[in-house]
Amino acid sequence: MVDLRIKDGKIVLPDSVIDATLLIDKGKIVGVTTKNTTIKADQTIEAKGKYVLPGGIDPHTHLATSFMGVNAKDDHFTGTKAASWGGTTTIIGFATPPRGESTLDTVTKTRERADKEVIIDYSLHPTIVNLSPENIGQIKTLIEMGMPSFKLYLVYRKEGIMADDGVLLQMFNETIKHGGLVGCHAENISMIEHLVAKALKNGNRSAIYHARTRPPITEAETVNRMIYLANYLHAPYFNFHLTIKEGVDMFREARNKGQPMYAETCTQYLVNSENDLKRPDGINYICTPPLRTKEDSEALWKGLAEGSISLVSSDQCAFSRDMKKLGKDSFDLVPNGLPGLEFRLPILFSEGVMKKRISLSKFSEVTSTNAAKIFGLYPQKGILRVGSDADVIIIDPKLERTITSEDSLYDMDWYPYEGMTVKGWPSTTISKGKIIWQDGVFTGKAGEGEFLKRKLPLELFKKPIA
Ligand code: URP
Ligand code: ZN
Repeated sequence: MVDLRIKDGKIVLPDSVIDATLLIDKGKIVGVTTKNTTIKADQTIEAKGKYVLPGGIDPHTHLATSFMGVNAKDDHFTGTKAASWGGTTTIIGFATPPRGESTLDTVTKTRERADKEVIIDYSLHPTIVNLSPENIGQIKTLIEMGMPSFKLYLVYRKEGIMADDGVLLQMFNETIKHGGLVGCHAENISMIEHLVAKALKNGNRSAIYHARTRPPITEAETVNRMIYLANYLHAPYFNFHLTIKEGVDMFREARNKGQPMYAETCTQYLVNSENDLKRPDGINYICTPPLRTKEDSEALWKGLAEGSISLVSSDQCAFSRDMKKLGKDSFDLVPNGLPGLEFRLPILFSEGVMKKRISLSKFSEVTSTNAAKIFGLYPQKGILRVGSDADVIIIDPKLERTITSEDSLYDMDWYPYEGMTVKGWPSTTISKGKIIWQDGVFTGKAGEGEFLKRKLPLELFKKPIA
């Protein structure tokens, strides 16, 4: 007797899709069987004609964030409720210290809030802003506390969260010693500041100038430098939100040489473009790096399909229309970031799998498995295998939905994907064996998610593993 049985679905495995039944007991997967099993279950879900996959892992979410003086619309409850509605069962967020606070203190405060609110499991990437001799020891401590991946912003100087090259080099050195991974928001701040000053001086303040002042070279230069530096220092490297076709080429080349370099892109860079910045509500679409061209999006899709890009995250950062209006007179005053973590899997499924840009197994890899491998959660998460956590989603390819802010679970009044019709939606989301969404009915609870202590695998440091 087991707790739950998912019967006759198409189970998506790393290299194949099989017609099978999935057995779940005490929060774990206890069987994947193609035979007519006689094992009974307390509850059975009929999944004929549907796809059974590992729950999504979104390793780039800014829930309950405050950025450029504005508090985002979501919190850890509404954010994880929305994420799980769209098939995500694990998130990794950020602990970004305000000026004068240590990363360790920020981690403690973030956990105090998040632990009470999260519906699904979560972890944190600490953000490193500066490294005084006193707090350099915190890096080892943070890694030992289960947060071995870090984000360094090489931008946002005036916002007070930028890490300079000195911090970057120290971080590479410290993380190599203790088994950590440096991840960067890679853009060239000096070039950007120069271009922004010039645009403002010339009175060019509309939203499109956000993209014009951050042309592809500003990202390409820094991504290239990070790969070069990491390779020189024998360190692995993770590039948050890659947006440019030149970047795909760089990761292809480095990985073909066997270097452990990893890049993510985000949903918006695959389906939106800089043309959105020219709309009357163009300021809403300001995110960093900026939206690019159709050609870049196609290169990113290709990079995902061939494996040069490892995964797709949301970079959830939810600001309403009114919040965005703070920059209505000048693009540089708009709080950066886009909402929509709940649409990551449905859009990838609809635009990727349904349109044959990526296979089902690749979909599962880039929405779940690779994040688990890179960030030290595998095989607890990211795969349907006996012994793994029963974080499972069932996608019904017949379910169609037109994205609208009217359905928002965190009171968002716009989405970059507004009006887009997606084919395929998770009819069921299961977190550690418990059904939290079934046919649109929510049964999750605040605080049921747990903080995940992560440890990076040794192979991550030697060659590309995801
Ligand atoms: O515009 C963005 N991406 N906002 C969130 C902060 C970041 O840079 O990741
Ligand atoms: Zn960033």
